[in-house]
Amino acid sequence: MIIQPRVRGFICLTSHPEGTAQHVKQQIDHVKSKGKINNGPKKVLVIGASTGFGLASRITAAFGSDAATIGVFFEKPAAPGKPGTAGWYNTAAFENQAHAAGLYAKSINGDAFSDEIKKQTIDLIKEDLGQVDLVVYSLASPRRTHPITGVAHTSVLKPIEQAFTDKTVDFHSGVVSDISIQPIESEEDIHNTIAVMGGEDWKFWIKQLKEAGVLADGVKTVAYSYIGPELTYPIYRNGTIGRAKDDLEGTVPVLNDLLKDIGGISYVSVNKALVTQSSSAIPVVPLYISLLYKVMKEKGIHEGTIEQMQRLFADRLYANGETPLDEKGRIRVDDWEMRKDVQTEVAKLWNEITTENLDQLSDIAGYRNDFFNLFGFNFDTIDYNKDTNEVVKIPSIKE
Ligand code: NAI
Repeated sequence: MIIQPRVRGFICLTSHPEGTAQHVKQQIDHVKSKGKINNGPKKVLVIGASTGFGLASRITAAFGSDAATIGVFFEKPAAPGKPGTAGWYNTAAFENQAHAAGLYAKSINGDAFSDEIKKQTIDLIKEDLGQVDLVVYSLASPRRTHPITGVAHTSVLKPIEQAFTDKTVDFHSGVVSDISIQPIESEEDIHNTIAVMGGEDWKFWIKQLKEAGVLADGVKTVAYSYIGPELTYPIYRNGTIGRAKDDLEGTVPVLNDLLKDIGGISYVSVNKALVTQSSSAIPVVPLYISLLYKVMKEKGIHEGTIEQMQRLFADRLYANGETPLDEKGRIRVDDWEMRKDVQTEVAKLWNEITTENLDQLSDIAGYRNDFFNLFGFNFDTIDYNKDTNEVVKIPSIKE
């Protein structure tokens, strides 16, 4: 079928199989260009492995360290006349490339918050790998059904203390306008957001993996967090999602305790703000990212998800000597984003930005391009008016 982008707000309803394969290939090429990671991981489980930081982590482990990878995610398979989701096609492309390179790669599609998927994953590790030496936790989801209580929690992106008004951009039309976001209605909003995006599910995974004996001695586990600039504090770090990130970061000592007897260690890595399916849903953030891209590209320090994850693995998680941490014990690969010169310039541009000067002062074009790339669109090498085979299978998933 002919597949073209069908956009509704911050979501693209269609994905292109050849375009997403191209996107995955670019990421693989980047990792290969950086050479092998010394003493990198060998058997890796990535939870949230199909898009964004999780996909980039899986690609880095496989092609930067020849690791066998198991990826868990929640994606819609392709069917005749109905394209699959980008994460489905990404994984098909990843597995094909990994297998061609002689690497083990299998995937599990289902709800990672459930005990059933945890059990399936454990069984697969036991059967094929025995144990894993790295667990990456990179889920981003709007909801979670709690495996014990059965309660369906929905996360919200709201300020906590008071309504927040600031600029935002519709990145399709390029209109910059003010947006007001009402604060939480009750503590329930905070509780629900923590239940979805906090650390409990990460803990459940590590606990169950350990009890099943599938974590190798000296295992590492890492989850991803964000801080960002003061201008997004009310909606991000001081908002409901920030509370969930506090909870995630607070899970590190709990996991370290749990992993002590097998010499394991857990980390949270604070990553850079980037265009992913999740971040495009947060108000205000896309405008900030457009300005950040402009400034970081001008300074020659821009990175995408793959550059971030390659640096995380090579210079932090598997660095020679100790992994460098901040005063709160977190890995920081948002270090270039948070540089004072970068933030001063972004803050200046933030005050000046309007619909009229958006193209000139921001990298909105780069934002849009990255957004369409996530779904396999905007690649010069692909003719989007041509028929493509939408029914692409993930080699390791039986349907
Ligand atoms: P993403 O939306 O690209 O990826 C989310 C992944 O989670 C996908 O693989 C998806 O299939 C999977 N997933 C969602 N619900 C699931 C479920 N119920 N069961 C199984 N898999 C499920 O998101 P992104 O942006 O890569 O986020 C990953 C982590 O990185 C999040 O913790 C996020 O807060 C964090 N982060 C993101 C930043 C950004 O700017 N995008 C910046 C810093 C941290």
